[in-house]
Amino acid sequence: MQRTKIKELLSSEPNGQMVKAQGWVRTFRNNQFIALNDGSTINNIQAVVALNSLDDTLLKRITTGACLSVEGELIASVGKGQAVEIKVSNLDILGDSDPEKFPLQPKKHSLEFLREIAHLRVRTNTISAVMRVRHAMAFAIHQFFNERGFTYVHTPIITGSDAEGAGDMFRVTTLDINKPPRDESGHIDHKEDFFGRETNLTVSGQLEGETYALALGDIYTFGPTFRAENSNTTRHLAEFWMIEPEMAFYDINDNMQLATDLLQYLVRYALDNCKDDLEFLNKRAQEEDAAKPQEQRSELGLLDRLKFVVENDFQRLTYTEAIDILRNSNPNKKKKFQYLVEQWGVDLQSEHERYLVEKHFKKPVILYNYPKDIKAFYMRQNDDGKTVAAMDVLFPGIGEIIGGSQREERYERLLTRVQEMNLPEKDLWWYLDLRKFGSAPHAGFGLGFERLILFVTGMTNIRDVIPYPRFPKSAEF
Ligand code: 4AD
Ligand code: MG
Repeated sequence: MQRTKIKELLSSEPNGQMVKAQGWVRTFRNNQFIALNDGSTINNIQAVVALNSLDDTLLKRITTGACLSVEGELIASVGKGQAVEIKVSNLDILGDSDPEKFPLQPKKHSLEFLREIAHLRVRTNTISAVMRVRHAMAFAIHQFFNERGFTYVHTPIITGSDAEGAGDMFRVTTLDINKPPRDESGHIDHKEDFFGRETNLTVSGQLEGETYALALGDIYTFGPTFRAENSNTTRHLAEFWMIEPEMAFYDINDNMQLATDLLQYLVRYALDNCKDDLEFLNKRAQEEDAAKPQEQRSELGLLDRLKFVVENDFQRLTYTEAIDILRNSNPNKKKKFQYLVEQWGVDLQSEHERYLVEKHFKKPVILYNYPKDIKAFYMRQNDDGKTVAAMDVLFPGIGEIIGGSQREERYERLLTRVQEMNLPEKDLWWYLDLRKFGSAPHAGFGLGFERLILFVTGMTNIRDVIPYPRFPKSAEF
């Protein structure tokens, strides 16, 4: 007999038809009622075994975590909580699970505990809901760009260049780290390394993405990126996924519009297509919130926050305007900020971004035209000589979700920046070439995939929205 997924069974008319379901036991009550889940939906199907129909040794093997195959009639349920159930006529144990040893009990576990058993945590309601939403968002990202005629480009993971010019890179080498070859002056000799040069894991596919945009027009990347920064926060991972669209003939305003359209599309997609999971996560967030002191609770629930983003424009303002607001803000005057905002040119801290988004405007904010000294070398220089056409999209509870810019398309200007910032000009020859041969105005941005998932699921730690998080001092699994 063919197996049917539980999601499909739960929406079928119960006509007493014979069905087969397979999945993992969530709970088993009264030696009768099995709650079975196969991951196709957050909801379990109830499989009912008639009292005394199974022998005792088989009954004892129906434990939380065990994997079962059940066959029986699909009937309307008399109990409350479910519309249909399976009246079991045949039951096989596919995989036993010793209840004394299985770490997941039918009770609430802390997320910290679940991180230690990341290979099993996806069998919980919370993490499985998050991972289904994660899948839906990945799918919707491809759909959004495909509908708009963008080409998906696979940029390399191993590179010889530092896209952000920030130096937080993981080295890739096959040299013997105990005895590396050295040149006459005693430096490690990378000529003998696998690639015959220094290489690292990419921090961003942007630079290669730009080369493709200046031929294919509109492109995007979607892949893993790596940062060796020592950031032990709820918003940073050492390995995260990034979506980087890059568009020929776009200026900074077109770029801001695309970022807005993308985020609103994705949130709307989640609301339309992940109803069961979002309702579960909404309730979960409510319960978490209720346990917090009043002043730390969110003003809106998860579903209301998502609807709010879809229905409201994002506030656009320049860095300079933001500095004015922050300088005159209450927390600044009363010295409540950890970093006080005194002069133009300082980098914004997350406390400042959150003040703008959560307290001042109470909606997503796009900040643009940042001081050139706090931004990357490739951003287009504005006519004022002080700022670049950079943009950051800031979200409530998250802070920066997108960073991007219009790119410097003028050869001389770009070269000057590369030199002023002491970047390795010789490694960037191909990037500079773009500005020599048919240069064009262009722009792009990077969306942090896990930060998007944080926002959409209402989870609060980035380590809970990727299957196997990588962060300082942790790479188990
Ligand atoms: O602002 P970032 O560093 O920008 C770039 O990498 C550009 N090359 C993007 C572009 O213009 N094509 O990173 C972009 C986004 C951030 O806004 C944030 O959402 C996410 O990537 N991000 C991280 N997410 C998780 N962990 C980290 N360590 C992250 N660093 C950045
Ligand atoms: Mg950034």
